[in-house]
Amino acid sequence: MTAVPDQPTIGSTGQRPAGGATEPGSVGSATAAGSVAGAALDVERIRADFPILGRQINGHRLAYLDSANTSQKPQAVLTAMEQHDACHNANVARAMHTLGAEATAAYDQARQRLAAFLGAATEEVIFTKNASEALNLAAYTLGSSLRPGDEVVISVAEHHSNLVPWQMLCQRTGARLRWFDITADGRLDLERAEADQLINPRTRIVSVTWVSNVTGAVSPLATIADWTHQVGAQLVVDGSQGVPHRPTDVAALGADLLAFTGHKMLGPTGIGGLWGRAELLATLPPFLGGGEMIEIVRMTGSTYARPPQRFEAGTPPITQAVGLAAAVDYLSAIGLDAIQAHEQALTEYTLARLAELPAVTVLGPTTTVDRGSPIAFTLADIHPHDIMQILDSYGVAVRGGHHCARPLHERFSAQSSVRLSPYLYTTTAEIDQLIDALKATLSFFRVDPAAPAQPNRLTGGGR
Ligand SMILES: Cc1ncc(COP(=O)(O)O)c(C=O)c1O
Repeated sequence: MTAVPDQPTIGSTGQRPAGGATEPGSVGSATAAGSVAGAALDVERIRADFPILGRQINGHRLAYLDSANTSQKPQAVLTAMEQHDACHNANVARAMHTLGAEATAAYDQARQRLAAFLGAATEEVIFTKNASEALNLAAYTLGSSLRPGDEVVISVAEHHSNLVPWQMLCQRTGARLRWFDITADGRLDLERAEADQLINPRTRIVSVTWVSNVTGAVSPLATIADWTHQVGAQLVVDGSQGVPHRPTDVAALGADLLAFTGHKMLGPTGIGGLWGRAELLATLPPFLGGGEMIEIVRMTGSTYARPPQRFEAGTPPITQAVGLAAAVDYLSAIGLDAIQAHEQALTEYTLARLAELPAVTVLGPTTTVDRGSPIAFTLADIHPHDIMQILDSYGVAVRGGHHCARPLHERFSAQSSVRLSPYLYTTTAEIDQLIDALKATLSFFRVDPAAPAQPNRLTGGGR
C-alpha cells in the first residue's frame, strides 16, 4: 500500500487532542468550568477544538444542543479534509499516477480506521453517502429474495430512514411489515411483542434503531438479536444515534448489518456507512450499478466485485472519508466510554432541571437507565416551532418538529416536540441557558410556570 505523506493526525494541526491522548493526565479532570461533577472529560479543552462553538448567536453565547441532528467538527477534521484536497486530490482506484495512489491510500486507510473503530474487519465496511443510503442498501439487497407471506419487523420508534425503505421493500415484494409497539415511557414493548409472536418463523428481517433519536431509549438489542436468530432471520441495526455516543463492537452487538452516518459523529456530511458480517455480505447482490463495483463487463452481462467494492458504485466520497477517519481518531483519543459517561451525567442533570418546569412533558424515559442523550419534550401547548424560535433568539440551538419520526409522535399523541441533544462538548452552563430560555418562553406566552403539563397519552398502536 502506498503511504500517504503529510496526512494530518490529531495533534499535528496545532490542535491538542482534547481529552488528552498525548496528555492522559488531563483526562479525569472534572474541574473545568461547566463540566458535570464526576464526568471524565475536560470539556473546556474539548470545546477549544471546535471553532464554531466560539460563535455568538443573536448576542448570546451559542448553546449548540442539536447534535443528534448534526454534530460539529473539531479543527482536526477540518484540517484533514483541507489538507487532502490541497495536497492529495485525485480519483481513487482508477488514477495510476502518484496523486491517484495517494488518494487511494488515504481512502483505503479511512476504511481501515473506521473498521478498527467498529471492531470490524476492513472489508466489512461499506461507505455510503449517509445512514439513509446504508439502510436502503440493506433493504434492497437483503430483501431481494423476499416473497409474499414473508415478514419484516421494525418498530414504531424508527426514524423515517429505517421505516420507509422497508415499506417500499414490502410494497415491491408482497411481504408484510410488522412493528414493535412502545411502552408508556417510550421503550420497545417486548412483552406485547412476545404475546403477539411478532418475531416468528415467517420473519425474514428485523430492523430496529440502537438508540431512539426522539426518546433516547436504548433498544434491548441482545434480546431482539436472540429472537431474530432463533427463527433464522437477519438483524439490521440503525446505529445513527448509537455509534457516535457509545463504544461499538460489532461482534458484541448481535447485528448482521449496522448503519451509521458520518455527520453525527464529528465527521462531514456526504458520508456514512454500512457494516455487514463478511459471510452475509458475500451472499448479497449489488445495490447500485456503475464503475468500480464490477469485475468484468461485457455487453451480454457483468460480473461483480467482492464486498465492499460491490456496493460502492462510482466515485466515492473520498475527502469525506478522510474527514470521517480523522473524526473517529478524535473520538477514540478521547474514549467512547468517557463520552458516554459525560453524556449520561449531562442527561441526568438536564432531566432534573426540566423537572423544575411542570409544563414540560418528556417523551420517553425520565431516568438515565438504558437511555442515550437526546431528550424530546413538549412545553404546555406551545408549538415547538415557536419554542425553537424563541430559544434561538437566546442563542440556544435545538430542533423542533417530528424529527423524522412522525409515527412515534402520533403514538404519543403529540403533533411534534422540541428536542435537545448534547454531545461531548456540551456543558451544564448550556443546559442552564436552555432552561432560562424556556422560562422566558413560558413568560412570553403567559403560561403559568407552575401549571402542570398534559400527561403522555399513547394512542393507536395496531400492527
Ligand atoms: C436514528 C436515525 N436514523 C437515521 C437517520 C438518518 O441519517 P442521515 O440523514 O444522515 O441519513 C437519523 C438522522 O437524523 C437518525 O437520527
